[in-house]
Amino acid sequence: MPLIRLQNVHFNYETPERRVEALRDVSLEIEPGEFLAICGPSGCGKSTLLNLMGTLDRPTSGRYVYEGEDLNTWTTGQLAELRARDIGFVFQSFNLIESLTVYDNIELALLYRRDDRRNLRERVMEAMDRVGIAHRANHLPRQLSGGQQQRCAIARAIVGRPAVILADEPTGNLDSETAAHIFGILKALHHDGSTLVVVTHSPSQADQAERVVEMLDGRIQFTRRRLS
Ligand SMILES: Nc1ncnc2c1ncn2[C@@H]1O[C@H](COP(=O)(O)OP(=O)(O)OP(=O)(O)O)[C@@H](O)[C@H]1O
Ligand SMILES: [Mg+2]
Repeated sequence: MPLIRLQNVHFNYETPERRVEALRDVSLEIEPGEFLAICGPSGCGKSTLLNLMGTLDRPTSGRYVYEGEDLNTWTTGQLAELRARDIGFVFQSFNLIESLTVYDNIELALLYRRDDRRNLRERVMEAMDRVGIAHRANHLPRQLSGGQQQRCAIARAIVGRPAVILADEPTGNLDSETAAHIFGILKALHHDGSTLVVVTHSPSQADQAERVVEMLDGRIQFTRRRLS
């Protein structure tokens, strides 16, 4: 069974002046454990698509079936629980809470979850070790380099062991060497079993995904699989 199934999804942004058809008839299935890249020019709908997959928005029309469940029938509260449990977000601009330390930013992701509160410290330590940020546990985000901030954001995304990691241009604000490190961390997570969806402008990153979805004007233009 696919983890994520979008069927004929449309998404419109409504502003007082006009309607933007950001997604037009998008159908896409993602299998558990897959590594998918989403590419396409600025404004083609990549972030909109990722936000829908992450249940931050609902389709204007069409269906979103997650693990066999039709999410259109779920309440906003149920979706928030699903997000906290199953989905790890990584953003281009890190989106860390500036007043919290690295440790506290990561722990907060666990506190949002309804499940048990045991071993919080061990779980946060493990996530920090995983991405190589444990030595900065007590720093604030502004005391970190961009690469370190993104490591912290990835630790926050994975600390709850989500089923899927959704990363929106996770290396877009980083120099190329740091970007390669951060992308390597995401690839290692996929290697260890995570489902990974990455929006990227980098052809060399896209080439490392198992499947690439090319978007244009709110539509999926084509998908291609990596050879071999
Ligand atoms: N909050 C919003 N209100 C109105 N229109 C929006 C909003 N957010 C995005 N859009 C429009 O929807 C379309 C898709 O935007 P989206 O952010 O998904 O593109 P993108 O592919 O992620 O682009 P980029 O590569 O620049 O991040 C664009 O035309 C954009 O202007
Ligand atoms: Mg975007």
